[in-house]
Amino acid sequence: TDRYAVVGNPVEHSRSPAIHAMFAEQTQQDLAYERLLAPLDGFEAALRAFAAAGAKGCNITVPFKFEAFRLATEHTERAARACAVNTLRFDEGGWVGDNTDGAGLVNDIQRNARRPLEGRQVLLVGAGGAAAGVLGSLIAARPAIVTVVNRSLDKAQALVASHADLGVPLRAATLAEAPAAQDVVVNATSSSLAGAASPVDARVLKPGTLALDMMYGPKAQGFLDWAAAHGAEPRDGLGMLVEQAAEAFFFWRGLRPDTVPVLKALRSGLE
Ligand code: ATR
Repeated sequence: TDRYAVVGNPVEHSRSPAIHAMFAEQTQQDLAYERLLAPLDGFEAALRAFAAAGAKGCNITVPFKFEAFRLATEHTERAARACAVNTLRFDEGGWVGDNTDGAGLVNDIQRNARRPLEGRQVLLVGAGGAAAGVLGSLIAARPAIVTVVNRSLDKAQALVASHADLGVPLRAATLAEAPAAQDVVVNATSSSLAGAASPVDARVLKPGTLALDMMYGPKAQGFLDWAAAHGAEPRDGLGMLVEQAAEAFFFWRGLRPDTVPVLKALRSGLE
């Protein structure tokens, strides 16, 4: 049995073990996937102990994605672009770091929500780690433009600058300068933790705008209610979570699980 885990702090509410158990059953892979709580000052030690015990890889969640990036000895292109790693594979020769968050988001938008991004106007709200993890993949879907707005303008500018060579027009702005009537709005801020429904004004929405919060559960509810109240199509981060897990599963096992029944099971609480 090959061992994997999700490493974070906190990690007890992670749904990744349930998702990977369903993937493993579906593809008949002999693996175990656990939760690993790492002390805030003990991420590296926890990881080394897990790898030394024979584990094959892990997912990394808050707040360790940047540290995981530093500990990887090799990076996929998308992880290098994001400067953050959410998936590690422990190979003989070293630790390979990948970032599957962006592909997970884009696959959820395009396949599950059936919203092609090509030629669309996309607004990315936030410029922290969560936003950095997905911008490269959003750009790869060839939207007409991606606007990154953030409370601190300098962080939006830095994020845009680090992706300026990818051939899609990018703009950085403050929250107050967010453009109107976007096709897709992605909330990658943690502002819901402060109790605000949305960090941006409702004029960013138009009827049918896909308004996606990367969080799920109660933390996303304020934003989703706000979006629905203004005629947008709300979507939480559960589909992205399943899709990023499927990308990680492929990175480790070379097999693509069917995400549709897994997302369905999570939504109906059957996991
Ligand atoms: P994460 O890994 O979740 O992205 P982060 O790197 O700390 O965490 O980034 C948090 C994001 O949420 C940032 O874009 C932050 O804005 P600043 O860069 O200006 O700090 C944003 N954010 C957090 N609280 C917010 C609030 N109350 N209103 C608006 N934006 C907020």
